[in-house]
Amino acid sequence: MQFEEALSYDDVLLLPGYSDILPRDCDITTVLCTGITLNIPVVSSAMDTVTEEKMAIAIALEGGAGVIHRSLSPEDQAQQVANVKRFLNWIIASPVTVGEDASISDIKIMMERFNVSGMPVLNKDEKLTGIITSRDLRFCRDDTLKVTEVMTRNPTVVQGEPTTAEAREKFNNHRIEKLPVVDGEGRLKGLITVKDMEKHDLFPRAATDKSGRLIVGAAISPQDYSVRMPLLKNAMVDFVVVDTAHGDTKNVMDTITEIKKQYNIPIIGGNVARKDGTRRLIDAGADAVKVGIGPGSICTTRIVAGIGVPQFSAVWDCSEEAAKNGIPVIADGGIKYSGDLAKAVGAGASSVMIGNLFAGLKEAPGKEILFDGRIYKEYRGMGSIGAINDGAGDRYQIGKDEKPVPEGIEGRVPYKGELKSFLFQLISGLRKGMGYCGCKNLEELKQYRNFAKITAAGWRESHAHDITITQEAPNYSRI
Ligand code: XMP
Repeated sequence: MQFEEALSYDDVLLLPGYSDILPRDCDITTVLCTGITLNIPVVSSAMDTVTEEKMAIAIALEGGAGVIHRSLSPEDQAQQVANVKRFLNWIIASPVTVGEDASISDIKIMMERFNVSGMPVLNKDEKLTGIITSRDLRFCRDDTLKVTEVMTRNPTVVQGEPTTAEAREKFNNHRIEKLPVVDGEGRLKGLITVKDMEKHDLFPRAATDKSGRLIVGAAISPQDYSVRMPLLKNAMVDFVVVDTAHGDTKNVMDTITEIKKQYNIPIIGGNVARKDGTRRLIDAGADAVKVGIGPGSICTTRIVAGIGVPQFSAVWDCSEEAAKNGIPVIADGGIKYSGDLAKAVGAGASSVMIGNLFAGLKEAPGKEILFDGRIYKEYRGMGSIGAINDGAGDRYQIGKDEKPVPEGIEGRVPYKGELKSFLFQLISGLRKGMGYCGCKNLEELKQYRNFAKITAAGWRESHAHDITITQEAPNYSRI
């Protein structure tokens, strides 16, 4: 017989320790999975009321990442991934170009058709010979002239794979608006525009790939990966998540192994809650392990099936196992306050996945609901009747024609406004936790492992008590 104690976030508190670090100076960058670094340890859930392209863009701009859910058709999901990748175009890989024999009238037509304000000019060998921009056209009155008579010859260029700093220097020093990227032979490899440069400057903490595009993930399953993977690859997805309620299954292991054989795309396996399941996912080739069986705010798995592991212990155990191979753990579900984020990392997670706290945000795809004079947004489990009817049943091993047995509920959460200010509070809470523990980066917090188990009295004492709250705080409400 096996009988063990297992704890949830509410059962524990991080113990304070000596500190010589200010919260604002803590480094909160993290590794999401092998090959992908985020600037904040937060990922939005692959749920149809949490993550579509708007949420994925908003969270990546702040340094995290979104996982586009898979109740969308494979084509729509891939299109949304492509839209996220395009949002912060750093280097436009295939810019609109013109040949040297084009006339000014051709140029004007192309500029209007493609809605661009300038184009690189290429000779017959596809080498860059000039650039034509609306600035060159401003005083040109003769549309029959050849582009070579009006364009700027020998434009300022950058070679190879420039960093944002290098590009910024060129824009500033040469007062240009477009910067062609060329190879050693002068062949055009891309184009950087000052507008995209400015977008980058607006979001200095954005989570980006090496070409400066936003990081985004997509959910797949053992049943649909063979259709989704090629489309997602084309859309340049950064990572995929095998999105199943029970990740410790042959199906999931086979899926991971197969995807690793065919694609060079990081893959996150899950969900598990035990050491041996973690080990099997790692052995199958997972680049990160997602942990959580039943902690989610909309989950009823533990009640319906009588199984699960309280989330703090699950994260603690799985992280211990995953650390042997240096594989990151994502703590999925059950985050109610910023303090839970600090506890999750303290238990060994490299990042957390969040559904409920994000579902009420403007960027979430759920419907707005007006109820009793207040605005709410729809939030539902992917194992709820509604989500199963909309195609999410295979996450819970429910076939298309089977009668649904839900493992989740449908509901509403208060509308919370935009992600940016909400996330600021969440992340600042994590930073405060790090400051109290004297941990200057997340790795130190992961190693800290210094907790107290508290009683019901301790938990009551922790919350605001013996008072009626008259002014709501942006980071606290009694749930
Ligand atoms: P939170 O607590 O942030 O949790 O709302 C979100 C996570 O919950 C999982 N999830 C479910 N689990 N039944 C479940 O047992 C469901 O219907 C369900 N829908 C989502 C998922 O891992 C998500 O990230």
